[in-house]
Amino acid sequence: RDIGIRTLDIVSERKSLEGPLLPILHEIQAEFGYVPQEALPIIARELNLSRAEVHGVVTFYHDYRDHPAGRHVLKLCRAEACQSMGGDQLAERVKTLLGIDFHQTTLDGAVTLEPVYCLGLCSAAPAAMLDGEVHGRLDADAVDGLVAEVRA
Ligand code: FES
Repeated sequence: RDIGIRTLDIVSERKSLEGPLLPILHEIQAEFGYVPQEALPIIARELNLSRAEVHGVVTFYHDYRDHPAGRHVLKLCRAEACQSMGGDQLAERVKTLLGIDFHQTTLDGAVTLEPVYCLGLCSAAPAAMLDGEVHGRLDADAVDGLVAEVRA
């Protein structure tokens, strides 16, 4: 269905909630798999917010995507325990191998790379999540394996 019409439905159903913006964005992402640009002005108008305000909220929460996800979603933990265990270098390695930055999807649509802020696996840092499955104690070999998996 048309993004505009579906967005309007989602907004209408929720606009009387207290603090409707997050539930609306959540539902939009559940519906489309991302938050389409064309949904933002509709949400803004219906909630009496500026587009900048809606855009600010979308970008503040790392869970919202602005484009459809790839076939795989690889999330690398960027929080403190993982950073202190070499998470930064691993992230650089993954970015280089995939040729993309965080919040991007490879051109072939194979994988979307996203940051995540603690997977509750701090004792097995550095950690990542591939398609909902957590992986801990990552090293260069292990991330190479994850990259090979999404590329297969
Ligand atoms: Fe990475 Fe907790 S900080 S899993």
